[in-house]
Amino acid sequence: MKRSSQGEQNSSSKHHQVQKSSSPMAQIAKELLTLDAEAVLTLKNGINFKKNPEDGKCYIIYKDEEGVRACKNQCKHQGGLFIKDIEDIDGRTVRCTKHNWKLNVSNMQYVNPPQSFMQDELVVVWNDGSLQLMELNPPDPWLADPKVQEDLEPGEVTVGFQLFSSDSQ
Ligand code: FES
Repeated sequence: MKRSSQGEQNSSSKHHQVQKSSSPMAQIAKELLTLDAEAVLTLKNGINFKKNPEDGKCYIIYKDEEGVRACKNQCKHQGGLFIKDIEDIDGRTVRCTKHNWKLNVSNMQYVNPPQSFMQDELVVVWNDGSLQLMELNPPDPWLADPKVQEDLEPGEVTVGFQLFSSDSQ
């Protein structure tokens, strides 16, 4: 997913829930956490752990020179909580407190188990220096109600070609 930087602002971010599409499987954006401009300034480069004071849910925000990425602080294995990984020397990896899975939050790829899962990333919406973490539901609407693969009917698609001669120019 594309990184979000402060320069990208979205006027629709004031809405608590936003209908993203009018397709049969609509995608809903739900606001999970808001950081005001003052709180945004306290974000350090690297891994930031944040908690929503209203519902107690936890999030991880990774910041670098390219922008900000964010995800829920919830392990894909069995929902464990991530903490700072003391073996991580480049400051990009968190470790699950339950069974020690590790997640690189700079690219949202689990590194232990290796080459396994991607963490679901939240959408970061900037608005006058504040930011909101939004969750899109369903995250992959094209997977929610997939059509059965069908064979093409005869004549359904026509593929043609045309020859060009340099003599005709
Ligand atoms: S719940 Fe995170 S490793 Fe099992």
